[in-house]
Amino acid sequence: MSNKNKELMNDIITNCKIKNGFGPGVQPAAATSPTKRPLSPDHPNPALPITETPSPAMNRMGWALRTLLVVDNSSCLKDRKVSGKLIRKCAPGTELVDWLVNLAPIVHTRAQAAGMWQALLEEGVLTHVNKEQPFKDKCFLYRFRLDEEGGAPAAGIPQAEDLSAANEHIREALSALFQRGPDATLRMILRKPSHERTPEELELVFEELVHIAALSHLSTSIKRELSSIIVFEAHAQAGTILFNQGDEGRSWYILLKGSVDVVIHGKGTVATLKTGDDFGKLALINDAPRAATIVLKENNCHLLRVDKEHFNRILRDVEANTLRLQEHGKDVLVLERVAKQRGQHSAFKYTVMSGTPAKMLEHLLETRLGQSVSGMDPFLDDFLLTHIVFMPVVQLVDELANYFHCDAHEEAQTPEDREYIINFKKRVIQFMQKWVMAVRHAAFEEPSVCDFIEDLAAEVEADPDLNEETSIIHNVLTQMARYQEDRNQNAGQKWKLPTNGQPICLFSGNATPSKTVIRPDDDIIFRVYCADHTYCTLRFPMHTTAELIKACAADKLQLNRGPDDLCLVEVKSNGERSVFKDNDVSIPTGLTLNGRLFVSVKDHLDALTQLPEQECPTEGVDIDLEILSTKELAYHITIFEWDLFWAVHEYELLYHTFGRHHFGKITANLDVFLRRFNEVQYWIVTELVSTQSLSKRVGLVRKFIKLAAYCKEYQNLNAFFAIVMGLSNMAVTRLHQTWEKIPSKFRKIFQEFEALIDPSRNHRAYRVFVGKLQPPLIPFMPLLLKDMTFAHEGNKTSLDGLVNFEKMHMMAQTMRTIRFCRSRSLGLEPPSPKSEGEVRSYISSFRVIDNQRVLTAMSQKVEPTRKLN
Ligand code: CMP
Repeated sequence: MSNKNKELMNDIITNCKIKNGFGPGVQPAAATSPTKRPLSPDHPNPALPITETPSPAMNRMGWALRTLLVVDNSSCLKDRKVSGKLIRKCAPGTELVDWLVNLAPIVHTRAQAAGMWQALLEEGVLTHVNKEQPFKDKCFLYRFRLDEEGGAPAAGIPQAEDLSAANEHIREALSALFQRGPDATLRMILRKPSHERTPEELELVFEELVHIAALSHLSTSIKRELSSIIVFEAHAQAGTILFNQGDEGRSWYILLKGSVDVVIHGKGTVATLKTGDDFGKLALINDAPRAATIVLKENNCHLLRVDKEHFNRILRDVEANTLRLQEHGKDVLVLERVAKQRGQHSAFKYTVMSGTPAKMLEHLLETRLGQSVSGMDPFLDDFLLTHIVFMPVVQLVDELANYFHCDAHEEAQTPEDREYIINFKKRVIQFMQKWVMAVRHAAFEEPSVCDFIEDLAAEVEADPDLNEETSIIHNVLTQMARYQEDRNQNAGQKWKLPTNGQPICLFSGNATPSKTVIRPDDDIIFRVYCADHTYCTLRFPMHTTAELIKACAADKLQLNRGPDDLCLVEVKSNGERSVFKDNDVSIPTGLTLNGRLFVSVKDHLDALTQLPEQECPTEGVDIDLEILSTKELAYHITIFEWDLFWAVHEYELLYHTFGRHHFGKITANLDVFLRRFNEVQYWIVTELVSTQSLSKRVGLVRKFIKLAAYCKEYQNLNAFFAIVMGLSNMAVTRLHQTWEKIPSKFRKIFQEFEALIDPSRNHRAYRVFVGKLQPPLIPFMPLLLKDMTFAHEGNKTSLDGLVNFEKMHMMAQTMRTIRFCRSRSLGLEPPSPKSEGEVRSYISSFRVIDNQRVLTAMSQKVEPTRKLN
């Protein structure tokens, strides 16, 4: 909290009137009792005035009426004995009404007259003798304030000049009171408990509610229900705190008259609400603490209030769908009501649709943390998985640090202040815990995060009030230490991208090399060609930009052109070219299977041709597939791909979707996993079209169908798709002689598999199938990426300057799918340990041609197209 804001807040709070005696008890932050207040605030007393002192105008009206009353009917206002006690100068309500009806031609009914007396009563000009009754046309006794003990000298017998002044003023006074009467009556009804409201009174309230904009979206029957429980509340003094940020939400309010400030810790006043605005619904619907303090900005503010129990019963399910919070005249958070999950105690909750990054974080810290440490709130999880899109880590750490150190400039703290501040701190610590839980080691990749965690740990240790948080922060520290240790161990990891095939790990400190994650500062050795097919070999960290690779390759290949004239480009095996952006990273792993990296003069891109070797199979172990057990193949493929899948971080999907260059982050693990998909798919095709013998091809097709079946059984759906897609490749499906010899039992199984990978209705068949599986499983990754891209391209990231959080939610859903798939370890039973080493090295790098034209030509060669007679 900035110093200025803190002072502002303190100033506002210490200058507030604590309780004005008219509204329900309102306490400032400093005096908040730690014990819970009852859910429903006190009922206002309709017998009491709603202002602290009568306005001069009302005072004068009262004086004029009293003067005339005394002169007209001197016996009306007299000293009377009530229960043995003498009450001076009082009159029964009935007589006051009689007199007023006779006096004023505009007054036609006794009810109108009673309303006029009530208008005087609610200003304190007239009072019930025991201050127990509002004005009633009954024998209850009332007297003028002027006649109360210690009344002004004017309370005596009126003089002639008083009479003439009163006569002069009375028309105006009567007209003003006549106007105020109905409203005063209504306010009086609204201050009565519901059981005291008569049917006629409820009808009056209902007619009034019909005209209130904040209720306009509600049905007639709901407004009728509200008529009996909605309460009028008045506050005489500006500066009164209606409730404090962090308090339990007990009521919803509509401002009828006046204005209030919305004050937030660390920010001061963020908005001013005016007549007609409503507030306080957020805490009720979310069952969360108040998001702001509400301070009256003017004297004599009038409010309507619906208490929590009634709100929950009548309004919760029908409340307006959208809630917009503003700060300084601009929307900062847009919330929408959604059905809660089953098992949660209340039916509805607001969810964030859009917001500024800082306001979303504040909302998160204040409403989604602090209550329970267990479980993960979906909004929090979405935020943690996607914040890198709209709030860089450094900014997030900064905001958290400010939140944590909100007491930095605080000197003397009351115990209540301290409790409030400790809650802030606890939330930040919980946030860190959830952060690490949601994104694991990625949370520690930024040095600023590690520094912050260490600071937090030191503060927690030094603060006895944070004792309970020690174990949480220690747990985070342990995970951080483990990450750092792992990082140090694997420092200097080195990879080689063979001329074709998957990157090979040349050096890793990892004890299980298969589970090696590619890190941004790992080195990779790769080739860059130029138009004449000469090449240089480079070694760079994975996160090196295309620009740097381009410059270095041009230098080595002596291209003698400025960087602006050159570009780094991939030439695929079919001759297609794709140019890299200068700020692109993890270039070598991003190449297609048989693609090659070229540096080229921009104007000569058309002259680039693929290398002859790109049309040949990639390197791989040559083995007779027939002799390998199919189940064992499926087993080792699954183990191998599980490790590749395991290395992919959920963030890589975001980088891939938004573009690596936006983040400067590598997607190497995802790249390798996607390359593997193509590798398996084209391996199937390559094997089949390069098998000359028909009977061997038939055997292979059967083997591949069985392989798909085993992969499906092992829940490796990525390989299952790759195999079935390989078998559905045009170069394979046209092998009629082969397919004719496949037993119908196998053909039927294959048709079922094809139906499962059928992309129609947005891959419905697959989605239904995979939806029933339990982890561990390897999902069909290209579909997850398609979902991400669909969410990205179909939805703007920013809406009117706010982060479109609905989009972030969609993205996070897909990222969560990955988390779900890996939420249990694989632990497959090996089919047989016989030829393990051989199979493992075979499946880790297949011989693959990925040029469709070449594959089709080879297919033609093994089974020439039959000529029609
Ligand atoms: P609630 O959290 O129940 O109590 C404080 C209320 O202030 C909150 O509901 C909103 O109705 C209202 N409010 C208006 N603007 C803002 C804002 N910018 N931030 C938080 N609360 C706000």
